[in-house]
Amino acid sequence: MRRRVPSPAGAHPCDAARSLGEKDADDEAAEGRALAERWCAACHATGPAQASGGDAAPAFATLAASRDDAALAAWMAAPHPPMPDPGLSRDQIAALLAYMKTLRN
Ligand code: HEC
Repeated sequence: MRRRVPSPAGAHPCDAARSLGEKDADDEAAEGRALAERWCAACHATGPAQASGGDAAPAFATLAASRDDAALAAWMAAPHPPMPDPGLSRDQIAALLAYMKTLRN
């Protein structure tokens, strides 16, 4: 079953960019960050320079540094246990990837 992304409370900042038919990289990364905080932070440390708490789920900063874009996108499209499949859309995957790229340094 596919879940829809719940909209963040209130008007969301992406609307303006979308109505212009364009989303720049910063907007996309911001959207990915919001998704990460909502859907991924329960298991993953999603912030910059955040080390894994030693749990089974690796920190996003670690993943961004150790995986290439294709590997990250492939996993998000079809994760396997112990990670649940959140049913991400292509846009959501692109946004999450854009955010993860900002964690590389
Ligand atoms: C219920 C806990 C849980 C949630 C929620 C979760 N993950 Fe994971 N995730 C894991 C675990 C555990 C692993 C490690 C799996 C392994 O190494 O076998 C993992 C691994 C990953 C990996 C690395 C896969 C690889 O290449 O080894 C990525 C990328 C990832 N998760 C992205 C996400 C994203 C994006 C979200 C939010 C949409 C998310 N995860 C939400 C538990 C979770």
